[in-house]
Amino acid sequence: MSTNTTDDKKKVTTSRFTTMKANGEKISMLTAYDYTMAKLLDEAGIDAILVGDSASNVMAGHATTLPMTLDQMIYHAQCVGRGVERALVVCDMPFGTYQGDPLEALHSAVRIMKESRAEAVKIEGGAEIRESIERILSAGIPVMGHLGLTPQSINKFGTYAVRAKSDDEAEKLIADARMLEEIGCFALVLEKIPAALATRVSEELTIPTIGIGAGNGCDGQVLVVHDMLGLNKGFSPKFLRRYADLGSAINAAVGRYIDDVKTGDFPNASEQY
Ligand code: KIV
Repeated sequence: MSTNTTDDKKKVTTSRFTTMKANGEKISMLTAYDYTMAKLLDEAGIDAILVGDSASNVMAGHATTLPMTLDQMIYHAQCVGRGVERALVVCDMPFGTYQGDPLEALHSAVRIMKESRAEAVKIEGGAEIRESIERILSAGIPVMGHLGLTPQSINKFGTYAVRAKSDDEAEKLIADARMLEEIGCFALVLEKIPAALATRVSEELTIPTIGIGAGNGCDGQVLVVHDMLGLNKGFSPKFLRRYADLGSAINAAVGRYIDDVKTGDFPNASEQY
């Protein structure tokens, strides 16, 4: 029996994203990288799960998202897909699998769709990767765009600071957003940009914007699940709201377990055969 805590059991699809925006219904999205977490998020009624390349940071312990491979993203998307019934599953295309050549981009996206249960891919960038996005869309694969702070380009910018603060950068972002809608992306992540700019883009587009550090004017919000659950204690940007302190809860629980083992209290008579 499903333990979904939302009354709305209807599958979330990419076309439902459009309807949600048209109806003014905000879209909730979180990352997940494994079966157990994905199942918990889905049961709680999350609208969409992003198998983010942030797995590189929070799962693998790398400093950037660049090391993630296509095989690793597919593995995480397979694990997540097994835990999800209702949420839309979107998988990040990792660095180096789509920028060079549209055909390579298509092959990478096709592998994600064939080998995992992802229902869409997410790609960082605008005009410079237009042809790759168009090639993927032409195969019937839904694409979520990603503008603003694009962590795969960290070595170009050298910082994770707020993006599109200058007029030039803001104009490019608006032009890229319009282009992504025009060629057929079904949604757009706006990461770490001024709230006024994100609101403007959201009001202009008919596809939903999903913000992270982009203010309340977006049509939905996404957070990295480890950050919002307090599993990633060292990371506390201004935009992050923590909904739990699971890091401390785990430390405390493991501390109690260690004490019980050391004192011989665990296992007791009822915990053995
Ligand atoms: O990889 C990721 O988790 C992301 C989100 C931060 C949007 O791209």
